Amino acid sequence: MIYLVTGGAGFIGSAIAKKLINQGNEVYIIDNLQTGYSANIPKNATFIEGDFSKDETISKLNNTKFDAIFHIGGQSSGEISYDDPEYDLNTNTLSTLKLLQYCVKTGCKKFIYASTMSVYGEKENQEQFSELDETNPKSFYAVGKLASEKYMDIFSKQFGIDCIALRYFNVYGPGQNLENLKQGMVSIYLKQFLDDTFEKVIVKGDLNRFRDLVYIDDVVDITIASSNNSKFNNEIINIGTAKKTTVGEILTLIRKYTNINKEIEIIQGTPGDQFGIYANHEKLLSFYNKELTSFNDGLKKMITWIKENKNA
Ligand SMILES: NC(=O)c1ccc[n+]([C@@H]2O[C@H](COP(=O)([O-])OP(=O)(O)OC[C@H]3O[C@@H](n4cnc5c(N)ncnc54)[C@H](O)[C@@H]3O)[C@@H](O)[C@H]2O)c1
Repeated sequence: MIYLVTGGAGFIGSAIAKKLINQGNEVYIIDNLQTGYSANIPKNATFIEGDFSKDETISKLNNTKFDAIFHIGGQSSGEISYDDPEYDLNTNTLSTLKLLQYCVKTGCKKFIYASTMSVYGEKENQEQFSELDETNPKSFYAVGKLASEKYMDIFSKQFGIDCIALRYFNVYGPGQNLENLKQGMVSIYLKQFLDDTFEKVIVKGDLNRFRDLVYIDDVVDITIASSNNSKFNNEIINIGTAKKTTVGEILTLIRKYTNINKEIEIIQGTPGDQFGIYANHEKLLSFYNKELTSFNDGLKKMITWIKENKNA
C-alpha cells in the first residue's frame, strides 16, 4: 500500500510513518520542518519539504494516487494560534481543503485527520465529553480543527471519500519535542525537571487543571487501525483514555520517577487554555478493543527515553 503522511517529521506523524514503513508500506511525507526535525523522518520515506497548504508543495506529489492520506501535520498549539491566527488557519484548515481536493483529483478514497479534543472547549459542570456533545472551540486552533472536520463531512457526502476525524486528547511519550515549551504538558514539565539549566519548574495556570493523557504507541496503533477498519469510516472518534490526571498529579509522578525535586512556580495561565476535559471513549472501544497504556507506565517509558537520548 502507498500512503501520504503529513507532518512526518513531527512527534505523531513520524511515529505513524515509521510503523507504516515497518509494516512494508510505501510512505510519502510532506513537512515544512516548522516544529518537526529531519532526523525524525524515516529513512525509507519519500520526503517533500514544503508547506502543505500551498499548491506548489502539493504539486510535487505528481498526482500519486495514495491508498490513504494521514493528515497529521499542523500547528498543534492553542497558545501559538493566538500569536499568528492566519498561519494557524492556513496550516490547519486550508491544508485540509487542499488535500481533500487532491483526493478527489487523484481518486484517493480515504482521509484520516488529526483533530483534537480542543474542539469541545468547556461547559460548566461537565468534565467528560463524548462525540455527541456540543463543540465550543476556545482558541483559533480549535476553530480551525473543527472547520477541517466540517470540510471532511462535505467531501465524504459529496465526493464519497471515507473521512475519519480522530479527536486526539493529550498525546505524550518518546519522540515528543522537548524544546517546544508551548505544547504538550508532560513534555514541558519533564524538560524543566530534567534540564539543569532550569532552576525551577514554571507552571502556567492552576495545579488542579487536568488532562486525559494518551500514550503515543496507542495513538499510532489506533490511527493506523482506523485506516484498515471500515467501522471508523466517516466517523468522529475521541482518542483518549477516559481517565483524568491533574497537573499536580503529573508533577508528583515526575518527581517520584526522576527523583528530582525542583521548586514549582505557578504563573498566570495562557489564553484559551482549557481547565480540563477528558474523553468518553466508548465509541473508540466499540471499534478498537485493546487496553490502553496507563499514565504511570507511559511516563516511566518516556523518562527512560529522555535519559537514553540526552545527548542526541
Ligand atoms: N500532541 C498532542 O497532544 C495533540 C493533541 C491533539 C491533536 N494533535 C494534533 O496532532 C497533529 C500532530 O501533532 P504533534 O504533536 O505531532 O505536533 P508536531 O509539532 O510534533 O508535528 C507537526 C508537524 O507538522 C509540521 N507542519 C506544521 N505546519 C506545517 C505546514 N504548513 N506544512 C508542512 N508541515 C507542517 C511540523 O513541522 C511538524 O513536523 C497536529 O495536527 C495536532 O494538532 C496533537
